[in-house]
Amino acid sequence: MSQQTLSERETKDAQNAVKSDTKPNTKKLFIKTYGCQMNVYDSERMADVLAPVGYAPTDTPDGADLVVLNTCHIREKAAEKVYSNLGRLRKIKNARAETDRPMTIGVTGCVAQAEGREILRREKSVDLVVGPQTYHRLPEVVAKAMAEGPQVVTDYSVEDKFEHMPLARKKQVQARGVTAFLTVQEGCDKFRTFCVVPYTRGAEVSRPLMQIMTEARSLVDAGVREITLLGQNVNAWHGESASGIPIGLGELLHELAAVDGIQRLRYVTSHPNDMDDGLIAAHRDLPVLMPYLHLPVQAGSDRILKAMNRKHTAEKYLDVIRRVREARPDIAISGDFIVGFPGETDAEFEETLALVDAVRYSQAFSFKYSPRPGTPAAGMDGQIAREVMDERLQRLQSLLNRDQLAFNQASVGKTCEVLVERKGKLPGQWLGKTPWLTSAWFEGDASIGDMVTVELVEAGPNSLRAHLS
Ligand code: SAH
Ligand code: F3S
Repeated sequence: MSQQTLSERETKDAQNAVKSDTKPNTKKLFIKTYGCQMNVYDSERMADVLAPVGYAPTDTPDGADLVVLNTCHIREKAAEKVYSNLGRLRKIKNARAETDRPMTIGVTGCVAQAEGREILRREKSVDLVVGPQTYHRLPEVVAKAMAEGPQVVTDYSVEDKFEHMPLARKKQVQARGVTAFLTVQEGCDKFRTFCVVPYTRGAEVSRPLMQIMTEARSLVDAGVREITLLGQNVNAWHGESASGIPIGLGELLHELAAVDGIQRLRYVTSHPNDMDDGLIAAHRDLPVLMPYLHLPVQAGSDRILKAMNRKHTAEKYLDVIRRVREARPDIAISGDFIVGFPGETDAEFEETLALVDAVRYSQAFSFKYSPRPGTPAAGMDGQIAREVMDERLQRLQSLLNRDQLAFNQASVGKTCEVLVERKGKLPGQWLGKTPWLTSAWFEGDASIGDMVTVELVEAGPNSLRAHLS
């Protein structure tokens, strides 16, 4: 069995081969996505890259010729899920081994990047391991794995993968719905001491303005109405205007807002230190920029923030929120939290609760600290006992749930627009999102893609009932 890293030369050859040899869709591709929105976006782009070589998406692994697990490494639980899933896939693969439809199994995403060859050692049924920076090489890696045996490609490519990935065809985009993700920035230079992203996604890279505009226009042409810009530090995006002037995310949002047919823009995930004045002003000046900001803080204690290498205090974070609210008073704020970072005392945890009280989040995500291999925090003294983390998480979540319900209740009586995304469970029911990213449902006459005006009439913990107005 050969485990090779492919050269740039081979990649070029394979791409040329792909161009001249476009086959009809005859093989089935199943992609299972774990982790963040960027993985959701990547999975779509992998499907787009594999379509010209004959792979059509399917929604079960059973009859699939190629199964891809697009993995997440952020917490131990997420990473371990991959191996239990691979165990199940191995059984399907073995049952198919002697038939004329053998199954190929690929592992992509952040576990692929972090563990590389180790995955082949732990799970023999895997045929290819491909890291996030080399998805444009998938067609050739799949072909090589089928011909020669397992392949591992986890180098950071010198070429721009986005340049080498085809844009989705209209039909594919339409099948995915009226909202879409668009990665504009990838990777992270911030090296928070708990976080694996700098190791799995590499250094911060911004995609050029023109590439983003082209992709946005093609999404809108296919019927997409809402675009969410993605990046691990999306507000660190920087580029150049057409006239060569350095610009940031605020200006990028202005450019996108001018594209005919874009009705809503959002962006995730932001870092407080990169919330510059231009971006804050965009929240005041751009009606298509939705009043929602995901701004993780992780903890409320300055000592813990420092140990996390976050380079801002709780007060600085609150100041950013204050400025954003001045620009856009109705903005919904969401966040991420980690409880039980090494050394976190009860009093320091209380500071997190105090910060939550001060912000009043519309929604938030909270996690128990999970030591990740290779990160500085994993080796720190004072690792916190599981029971303590459990208790802290429960206390934090009960505050966050209280605030989420209060936010939803405060929306009742408001009139707003809802972008209709899909049908509800019952006939005549429709589901969509409010500008504040709350799920809303209503009954009546509508179609997917409509922007309807509704009155919000009833609040639940996770959604709002609305009436067409
Ligand atoms: N910035 C990326 C990924 C963030 S990871 C994005 O675009 O979504 C999402 C959240 O996971 C982080 O904000 C943090 O709250 C949590 N997280 C990251 N590393 C963690 C760890 N080692 N243990 C527990 N939670 C973690
Ligand atoms: Fe997970 Fe990688 Fe996203 S580690 S959270 S899939 S960037």
